[in-house]
Amino acid sequence: MINIAIDGPAGAGKSTIARQLAAGLGYIYVDTGALYRAVGVNAMRKGADTKDVQQVTGTLGSADVSLRFVDGEQRVFLGDEDVSLAIRTPEASMAASNVSAIPAVREFLFDLQRDIAAKNNCIMDGRDIGTVVLPNAQVKIFLTASAEVRAKRRYDELLAKGMQADYKQVLDEMVQRDYQDSHRAIAPLKQADDAVLVDTSDMNLEQVLNTLNKIVKEKM
Ligand code: DC
Repeated sequence: MINIAIDGPAGAGKSTIARQLAAGLGYIYVDTGALYRAVGVNAMRKGADTKDVQQVTGTLGSADVSLRFVDGEQRVFLGDEDVSLAIRTPEASMAASNVSAIPAVREFLFDLQRDIAAKNNCIMDGRDIGTVVLPNAQVKIFLTASAEVRAKRRYDELLAKGMQADYKQVLDEMVQRDYQDSHRAIAPLKQADDAVLVDTSDMNLEQVLNTLNKIVKEKM
């Protein structure tokens, strides 16, 4: 199977780009952040403090997380409930970042991610795909952009979805999440040695897609 790993901080455009790249190649697109979000939402619903290792670990037994692919689109389930929308709130973002620092949570989601990659040609995005989950991926890309550009994109996205948002708050939360994600002890966000760095701060969607398509062609 061919695996393409795309890692990078929140709001770098990973999901938008990966989805389009996958459609062009006929691969499935796997958004691993959605798995951490589902675990975070489940922990919140159970009343756990998402920063508390013991409390979150205690909710894992009830975290029946699965991914289903409907017409190539990933949907995330908690049991029989489709939580694909519920995991997109700012609270769910922070809960995901909190629970993702807990080793038991990463271990809990590891096999699920590996299994999908072993059975499918896929583009998988996240924070530790090129470094930990798929160290042998044929193509690795580290996608980034300045915090201000990423916050503006996320802010526009929230407004477009009809959610209320405050730019300064979005930026602050993003900076805090970046810090947490790249400073945790286990599988921190970092560029793999053999990943190609792409800074999208001054690029539009088409330019990013062209750049990534070129990288994929060269590597395969
Ligand atoms: O990609 P995202 O913003 O939906 O991810 C939500 C959180 O999940 C992110 O702040 C860190 C965590 N995460 C992770 O630790 N490892 C991954 N492979 C994907 C996401």
